[in-house]
Amino acid sequence: MRHLCDECFGPVEVAYDYDKIKLTPSMFYGRVKSLWRYHELLPLRDPAKAVDLGAGFTPLHRSIGLAERLGLKNLYIKNDSVNPSFSFKDRPATVAVSKSIEFGLQAVGCPSTGNLAAATAAHAARAQIPCYIFVPADIEPTKIIQASVYGAQVVAVKGTYDDANRILTQAADIYRIGVVNVNIRSYYVEGSKTLAFEVAEQLGWRAPDHAIVPTASGALLCAISKGFDELIEVNLLEECGTKITAAQGYGCAPIADAFKKGDEMVTPVEKPKTIAKSLAIGDPGDGIYALRKIRKTGGYAEDPTDQEIIDGIRLLAKTEGIFTEPAGGVSIATLKRMVDDGRIDRDETVVCYITGNGLKTPEVVASQLPKPLVVDPEIQALAPILSR
Ligand SMILES: Cc1ncc(COP(=O)(O)O)c(C=O)c1O
Repeated sequence: MRHLCDECFGPVEVAYDYDKIKLTPSMFYGRVKSLWRYHELLPLRDPAKAVDLGAGFTPLHRSIGLAERLGLKNLYIKNDSVNPSFSFKDRPATVAVSKSIEFGLQAVGCPSTGNLAAATAAHAARAQIPCYIFVPADIEPTKIIQASVYGAQVVAVKGTYDDANRILTQAADIYRIGVVNVNIRSYYVEGSKTLAFEVAEQLGWRAPDHAIVPTASGALLCAISKGFDELIEVNLLEECGTKITAAQGYGCAPIADAFKKGDEMVTPVEKPKTIAKSLAIGDPGDGIYALRKIRKTGGYAEDPTDQEIIDGIRLLAKTEGIFTEPAGGVSIATLKRMVDDGRIDRDETVVCYITGNGLKTPEVVASQLPKPLVVDPEIQALAPILSR
């Protein structure tokens, strides 16, 4: 299966014949409430055969509390942490697992230490096909619990994450495995672009002025940009001037570093060190493409520190009632920096993408939260607390 271009070795992209795709806003009334509602712009021949756990169609909240705190008039939170396996990775996983089955592959898998492993394993369970998750042998056991409970076979490779990636990639062709983020990658990224489709639909077929995207390999950012472009192609949007900003954690921010230095190339970070572990990809596969998109759209890139990320998680939880994992904290901390530095206008329509659930990583905030107040079981003991 070809997933790289023979000439430039860049990733191959799925192309659609946009002239033949006829879509109008009213066609979406009553459609399935998952990302498969956009099946004309997804790469499956028969959408009825999609492995669908209901990924997508997540809420777009108009922010009140956080908007007021930051002084923004039109802030929206795209809460993608409520997907079936609790991260946006269910979007690429539903497409990649469905496409693997269409190709007649016997099994699926991925090298991953977190969200993608869970999403792939959940969709493989739904499809009742084997799933292999390759991880470095020294991984903390908690990281693989979710994938294991869905029935995936976790293979612990005595080596690094890169070794795990390499041998699974070699096994993919020999054993006919759809490795969702390797040989099925071109289809996998198509699932993520629905994060642009949904936001536009939820805003009444309008694109936001600004989008903040948590970024690791850069695939999600590029996919969101492609999504907005496609809506113009099929006339569902009249125009799109969305500035796309990358949010990365300080300690693993190769794309943000390159952006701020004005570099054309992305220099890999050898030893990532950030609490935003789901974003800790030192050598981002789509880094230069993401960099070009940020510049082309007039966006920006930020790299908040661990403490800013924790503050971002707590701020979102307290002002909006949404508990995110560190990747979402990176988005909120980036948004805050952008507002503080005057890079976002008070009146702009801003969408902040929250891509993973806080219940996956409660340990990140636990030590900074207030301790419970311990009282005797008597009503008088409550007076100093409740009459404050
Ligand atoms: C929760 C979360 N958000 C965002 C991302 C960024 O995705 P990408 O690697 O496509 O940039 C990841 C990647 O694993 C993630 O787990």
